[in-house]
Amino acid sequence: MNTDRFLVVGASGFIGSHIHEHAQTSAADSIGTKSSSPTDQLSAFDLRTDSITDCVAREFWDSGDRRFAVICSCISQIDRCFLEREQSRQVNVEGTIRLIDDLRRHGVRIAFLSTSHVFDGNVGGYSESAAIDPQSEYGRQKVVVEEHLMRAAPESLIVRLDKIVGDRPAESHLFSEWRDLAKAGRNIVCIADQVLSPTLVDDVARAVIAGCQQGISGIWHLANPEQFLRADLAQLFVARSGSGVAVEEKPVGDFAFADVRLLRTFLDGSRFIAATGVEFTSMSVAIDRFLSS
Ligand SMILES: NC(=O)c1ccc[n+]([C@@H]2O[C@H](COP(=O)([O-])OP(=O)(O)OC[C@H]3O[C@@H](n4cnc5c(N)ncnc54)[C@H](OP(=O)(O)O)[C@@H]3O)[C@@H](O)[C@H]2O)c1
Repeated sequence: MNTDRFLVVGASGFIGSHIHEHAQTSAADSIGTKSSSPTDQLSAFDLRTDSITDCVAREFWDSGDRRFAVICSCISQIDRCFLEREQSRQVNVEGTIRLIDDLRRHGVRIAFLSTSHVFDGNVGGYSESAAIDPQSEYGRQKVVVEEHLMRAAPESLIVRLDKIVGDRPAESHLFSEWRDLAKAGRNIVCIADQVLSPTLVDDVARAVIAGCQQGISGIWHLANPEQFLRADLAQLFVARSGSGVAVEEKPVGDFAFADVRLLRTFLDGSRFIAATGVEFTSMSVAIDRFLSS
């Protein structure tokens, strides 16, 4: 009988909802939060104003089972972090650090989702020992939390991710964005020379739960070993969907981004694969599943 319990903070989000779903099948219990308006499934917890202690049932804090909290909550839009710097810091840094400290006081083991944007994005293929050098406000906010977590609770798991995609058409991610453009007969315009390690969200969910249950700690890169030029991934999507729309590439400077976009964010995830044996879904299979759903 598995007696692990999970708390997924940000379980209404893209990745958090999949982690919550997987935790429900691999643990005795999983509870989740969203930022407002609680539902039957999710409690309300706002990082800016709430204490996690008050937002989660006592049973979770008092349980003698192994307890994990996976922090998926974040303002994750790069430009929003830059344009709303104070507000995003309140959530992504101050509120997240307060959450971490509360979870530690309850003896809960923490997993935190971080990003490849902690690197400079010039070369790609980053391993866990590569030097960090964030170029965006979003990346800088993640670094502050990573550093706090490794100082205050080094037994925690930090998982850095690159671009995450999904195979469910109703969810919001790269493939649904491209499907919508194709439906509208519009070209898919990609940042030229941008290389990613696109990874299926369910693979991330399985791997994070496995990493927690296997007691892995420290900083790890979780990424599909396949790397793609963004435009090549879009071409693969167009070819498999038969939509016939054109894929265009434009230099990053031609886009009206508010904050820096990196060209080489792909990660070397080989250490995590060797430690856990997790396997990743190829992008061809992920696209086919998306198109046939
Ligand atoms: N998606 C990617 O490609 C990707 C890549 C690398 C790293 N990551 C990291 O993975 C994590 C999850 O990303 P995601 O794409 O799943 O993000 P998402 O879909 O935007 O979900 C964000 C979650 O955070 C919650 N949240 C936002 N503001 C909050 C607040 N003030 N208080 C409490 N909760 C709040 C949201 O709740 P409500 O919906 O209820 O507001 C939602 O559940 C993030 O840390 C992100 O940086 C994502």
